[in-house]
Amino acid sequence: MLHDNYFDYYEKLASWKFDEFDIQSESLTDWDLYEILRSIVTESSCVLDLGTGGGEKVIANYPECAKIVATDYSPKMIETAKKNLEISGRKDITFRVMNNLEMDVEDELFDVVVARHTITDPAQIYRCLKPGGSLLIRGVDKYDCWELKMIFGGGQGFNDPVPVSITDYESVIRAGFSDVTLVPICERDYFKDRDAFKGFLSKVPILEGEPDDALLDEFLSRNPGIIRLQRWYYGITARKL
Ligand SMILES: C[S@@+](CC[C@H](N)C(=O)[O-])C[C@H]1O[C@@H](n2cnc3c(N)ncnc32)[C@H](O)[C@@H]1O
Repeated sequence: MLHDNYFDYYEKLASWKFDEFDIQSESLTDWDLYEILRSIVTESSCVLDLGTGGGEKVIANYPECAKIVATDYSPKMIETAKKNLEISGRKDITFRVMNNLEMDVEDELFDVVVARHTITDPAQIYRCLKPGGSLLIRGVDKYDCWELKMIFGGGQGFNDPVPVSITDYESVIRAGFSDVTLVPICERDYFKDRDAFKGFLSKVPILEGEPDDALLDEFLSRNPGIIRLQRWYYGITARKL
């Protein structure tokens, strides 16, 4: 779950793509959001994607079905997503602006709700799911890039008393969901050179602001010849009875 003061940050990020940093990722665990999604979505499913961003992930990875509503609170992100949709030619997706914390969708409308790397209110999600519907969350956890954050003495979630995976897990249980499962997801991201790594860190909210060069070099000196970040995410699956 990200904090809600990121609105301007995402508005500025709307036309930008991660691809430019040429990151190679390796998975150390096997929880795959898209695999789970493919196993539960049928031709007649109605899917809601919260905090969809520029829509790249929905367009490329979500199985075709009756209807996918994909939302984001950033109008610029939705503008980008609509452009991406036009290029893709997919007809089952609709993008629109919505704040995940003030959801204005009908009760019991969706078979599946997905929230990937965004903030959620599980109680509001519970209301808009049909009985028997599923919730899938993937988030960035407190210990993501922990070695880097230790060297910098701060960063996203660094001082959280409880990891965000646990607060999310508890909120999902409190909202009334059944079959709630929390799984740690570990990946390693590899960067081709220092410039690409520094450029990436300047764009994402892992550290606060521009990375300090001396601290960055200290991090890089720990693993000579390799530029690698240990990523730590979490996945939650749950069902509404
Ligand atoms: C890290 S991006 C993830 C985008 C996409 N889900 C993905 O996995 O690539 C986070 C997205 O959540 C959106 N977001 C953050 N807080 C939100 C909120 N309260 N309501 C709706 N969208 C929100 C941001 O605008 C941004 O597009």
